[in-house]
Amino acid sequence: MKIFIVGITGGIGFRLARILKLGGDEVNGLYRSPNQTKALNSIGVTATLGDLVSIEPRQLADAMRGSDTIVFSAGAGGDSHAMTKAIDGEGVTKSIAAAKLAGIKRFFLVSVFPEAWRERHMDEGFEHYIMVKKQADIALSKSDLDWVILRPSALKNDPGTGTISLGVAQIHTEVRRDDVAATLAELIHTPAVSRKILELTEGSTPIPKAVGTISSN
Ligand SMILES: NC(=O)c1ccc[n+]([C@@H]2O[C@H](COP(=O)([O-])OP(=O)(O)OC[C@H]3O[C@@H](n4cnc5c(N)ncnc54)[C@H](OP(=O)(O)O)[C@@H]3O)[C@@H](O)[C@H]2O)c1
Repeated sequence: MKIFIVGITGGIGFRLARILKLGGDEVNGLYRSPNQTKALNSIGVTATLGDLVSIEPRQLADAMRGSDTIVFSAGAGGDSHAMTKAIDGEGVTKSIAAAKLAGIKRFFLVSVFPEAWRERHMDEGFEHYIMVKKQADIALSKSDLDWVILRPSALKNDPGTGTISLGVAQIHTEVRRDDVAATLAELIHTPAVSRKILELTEGSTPIPKAVGTISSN
């Protein structure tokens, strides 16, 4: 299978690329700094250099063309309102447009729990981020693509456990980036999971079993 990852150098994107390559998939993606070429090459990936803010949908479509699946895992990391809008918002709609231009149907979006950290009374920048992510979910869910929206809870870099809790509604806790990437890889190879919003947290169910349960529902 050929997978194109927007945000391939990110915490989740890079882990996903590594897992997919180890499993024998072809992986491409969008990255913005030539300094990252060596790290990508080290896992056997030759990706496409470009900035999500300035790239035209047609150029992104050219880079994606021939892929079976798109994964959007880019994020501005709470940089500023403008960058959140440009990456987490318009970056998604641009990627949807590019996928359509390239004739690619399958599209995974890494999103966030809309009710993340309600109890913490987060600042206005965080609320804006949550609002932009929700609008991106809506844009993808209204498209005619074969989409899956995956909402991980708060991300940690601790080594993966191989077990998760996955479902249409979960309590927002924490989850390891390794486990998010492994879940995405499993979902990518499970075409029966389609047009679903899934929430993902730490848990005790082995990843293949958790994804298998979703695919049979
Ligand atoms: N942090 C959390 O607890 C949390 C919880 C739930 C969901 N999420 C969401 O999960 C997703 C992935 O998280 P993560 O930890 O993997 O994020 P990350 O490590 O910050 O990765 C973000 C990726 O987006 C890329 N990117 C940013 N601006 C770009 C641009 N202008 N052009 C091209 N690429 C650009 C980054 O490239 P560079 O390497 O060049 O920066 C990087 O590859 C994000 O959408 C985030 O909102 C996060």
